[in-house]
Amino acid sequence: MQLSTRRFVVIGRDEVPAFAAAAEMQPWVAGAGSLIVGWSTLAESPGATADVFISLTQMETAAVALGYGTCWLGIWDRDAVTRLIRGQQGGKVVSILAGGPAAGEGAPKAKLPLSKLVGRGRLLAE
Ligand SMILES: Cc1cc2nc3c(=O)[nH]c(=O)nc-3n(C[C@H](O)[C@H](O)[C@H](O)COP(=O)(O)O)c2cc1C
Repeated sequence: MQLSTRRFVVIGRDEVPAFAAAAEMQPWVAGAGSLIVGWSTLAESPGATADVFISLTQMETAAVALGYGTCWLGIWDRDAVTRLIRGQQGGKVVSILAGGPAAGEGAPKAKLPLSKLVGRGRLLAE
């Protein structure tokens, strides 16, 4: 029995540029302190994919509590990243989390108010 389908690869500063090249549409990635690549051993399983996202979200919360800044990376060359981490057949790269010392609070972002996000017993009308 397979105990877990989640795998993670920590990419240190020295290796970040190679991964940044696989995310070339976002040049700022080259300045990240580190990356965490989330991998699922089951490429086709939505549940296994969700497990990786859940884990990365937990890591993000922990990182922020420790004073780091993080950013999800959703745009990268899947084949290139798979090659870099020596990914195996049958699995897939799910997502990448970039991290580094927090640069500061940043400008406040426009957010949807809670009253428009959460409905009681029913989905709110658009
Ligand atoms: C799966 C996923 C992929 C993302 N990919 C990118 C990305 O490639 N580049 C980027 O700058 N932000 C990326 N983000 C971050 C989002 O743009 C956004 O800043 C973040 O989800 C916070 O959203 P909020 O401001 O609504 O809370 C991604 C977020 C998620 C969940």
